[in-house]
Amino acid sequence: MRTYLVTGGAGFIGSNYIHYMFRKYDNEIRIINVDALTYAGNLENLEDLRNRDNYTFIKADITDKASIEKIFAENDIDRVVHFAAESHVDRSIRDPEVFVHTNVLGTAVMLNAAKAAWENPDGTFKEDRKFLHVSTDEVYGSLPDDGKSYFYETTPYSPHSPYSASKAGSDLLVRSYMDTYHFPANITNTSNNYGPYQFPEKLIPLLINNALAGRELPVYGDGMNIRDWLYVDDHAKGIDMVQEHGRLFETYNIGGHNEKRNIEIVNIVIETLLELLPDDDPRKKNVSKDLIKYIEDRKGHDRRYAIAPDKIKKEIGWEPETMFADGIKKTIKWYLEHQEWLSHVTSGDYQNYYDTMYKDR
Ligand code: NAD
Ligand code: TYD
Repeated sequence: MRTYLVTGGAGFIGSNYIHYMFRKYDNEIRIINVDALTYAGNLENLEDLRNRDNYTFIKADITDKASIEKIFAENDIDRVVHFAAESHVDRSIRDPEVFVHTNVLGTAVMLNAAKAAWENPDGTFKEDRKFLHVSTDEVYGSLPDDGKSYFYETTPYSPHSPYSASKAGSDLLVRSYMDTYHFPANITNTSNNYGPYQFPEKLIPLLINNALAGRELPVYGDGMNIRDWLYVDDHAKGIDMVQEHGRLFETYNIGGHNEKRNIEIVNIVIETLLELLPDDDPRKKNVSKDLIKYIEDRKGHDRRYAIAPDKIKKEIGWEPETMFADGIKKTIKWYLEHQEWLSHVTSGDYQNYYDTMYKDR
């Protein structure tokens, strides 16, 4: 039975990935989820897995070398899938240091611990051990708004935000391990994900949460920035396919060919909420396009991201499967049915975050 060490599995993509893996492999695999449970980590996301014999949660910080080494010493790990990170651009603009600490140092600790556990005395590595580093297309910087240029695996790194700079640093560390030690790894760089369990600091769940409560829908700048949206299950599938069928030491970009301007997303979210909410739901009267409010732009705001997923399609046969119209409906339906989840994650610290981030803009 293959054993996976998943970092950051209590976050948005990590928890969706773990669910995907158990749906796909059921009892053929074992998953150890290592997460520090920061503001973004939520064990409620994995509540249904608690009684599985082949699932273990360990609360640990990836920057804590001793804890991570202990996990490797006590478990024979075959696969590492490394999600744990500070992931929100706006937070990184306010407080960059924790991004460097978690994303760069944390990745170094993970790499070092895996290397030590997997290395043979002659410097080769034990059979069939693989490390997958989950990263973002934001490391490539910003594309012109021309509808025809794309990020490729060969695009030079040009990160602009402290978040993307820290992710670029972590990617380069992984590359250095592959180049220096022949460490068995892959890197995936993925476009913006959406789906269930996303923390409502990110655009789509923030819009849903605010609209339901009749609060303003903050649109940065002119609302014309473009993101390339990918349904989170398609991402989970892509990660698994890269790890099992990709060429080791390679980077694969995972993206949806699904570019949308932010203002389009805002309009789609409002329209879908109005369509899905029954007339007798008291939240429906709150939802309106009048809530849209253009506010001061994000500092250093990247204009456009877009991935051409040619390599992963050609080599591995992965393609996005979820049409945006279906994915956004599924997502909004999930949030409507999980108001309690939303209330839990937005109580306490979230309110302070929101007040600090959006006041005076
Ligand atoms: P998230 O913020 O929802 O979750 C991050 C998780 O990591 C949380 O559970 C948190 O508790 C955990 N974590 C943070 N610091 C930790 C530490 N020091 N030790 C252990 N655990 C820690 O993030 P996400 O959106 O699920 O993103 C997951 C990964 O995917 C990140 O590496 C991110 O850069 C990358 N990514 C995200 C997107 C996206 O659209 N969300 C797109 C491309 C790549
Ligand atoms: P976000 O979800 O933070 O993802 P990223 O910055 O990693 O792409 O933001 C997506 C886009 O939406 C980005 O262009 C910034 C914009 N945005 C708003 O206009 N208003 C908001 O309140 C937020 C959170 C984001």
